Amino acid sequence: MANEWLMTTTSPDETRRFGVCLGGVLQAGDVVLLGGPLGAGKTHFAQGIAQGLGVEEPVTSPTFTLVAEYEGRLPLIHMDLYRLYDEPTAEVVTLHPAALAQIGFDDYLDGSGVVLIEWARGVESDLDDYLSVDIAHGLQAVDDDIRATTRELRVRAEGAAARQRLQEWMDAWA
Ligand SMILES: Nc1ncnc2c1ncn2[C@@H]1O[C@H](COP(=O)(O)OP(=O)(O)O)[C@@H](O)[C@H]1O
Ligand SMILES: [Mg+2]
Repeated sequence: MANEWLMTTTSPDETRRFGVCLGGVLQAGDVVLLGGPLGAGKTHFAQGIAQGLGVEEPVTSPTFTLVAEYEGRLPLIHMDLYRLYDEPTAEVVTLHPAALAQIGFDDYLDGSGVVLIEWARGVESDLDDYLSVDIAHGLQAVDDDIRATTRELRVRAEGAAARQRLQEWMDAWA
């Protein structure tokens, strides 16, 4: 079973639809880590996941609230841990357990919903089963106009449930 998938999208809408497709196969207890610089398309992708999960409320990045919870076919818990780091873009980051405890991090991972985490580098080593999606600006296109709407999405599955979900996502997208 594949544990990695490289996908190129050429429009914001395609990135969103790629998320919708994932949202359609996600199950309770699934964890998705979402990475990439500002303007990469994380919010578009997250909105797609929410749509695929049947969430009707508008989804934004919970940069200030840290955690937002939505009701869909399953609960969607959307976290943005950016503000919990001293230096979010440092090569090695540490996230203090007390800061995580304060937002009730562990409780959200009790398996009752889908957990989507932005800026997850500081918790990755504590998780044993997750999909990670890293979005980068397209590098291949030479033309600036094309580069502006090309994104490379690198999907990685860690753990058996995530590998299974990756397969289902690939099948659903095909
Ligand atoms: N292929 C693409 N996928 C997603 N966004 C794209 C793409 N091409 C251009 N964009 C633009 O990039 C920006 C992505 O914004 P957003 O989803 O808020 O990113 P982030 O949450 O990572 O900061 C939007 O202005 C969108 O129109
Ligand atoms: Mg965003």
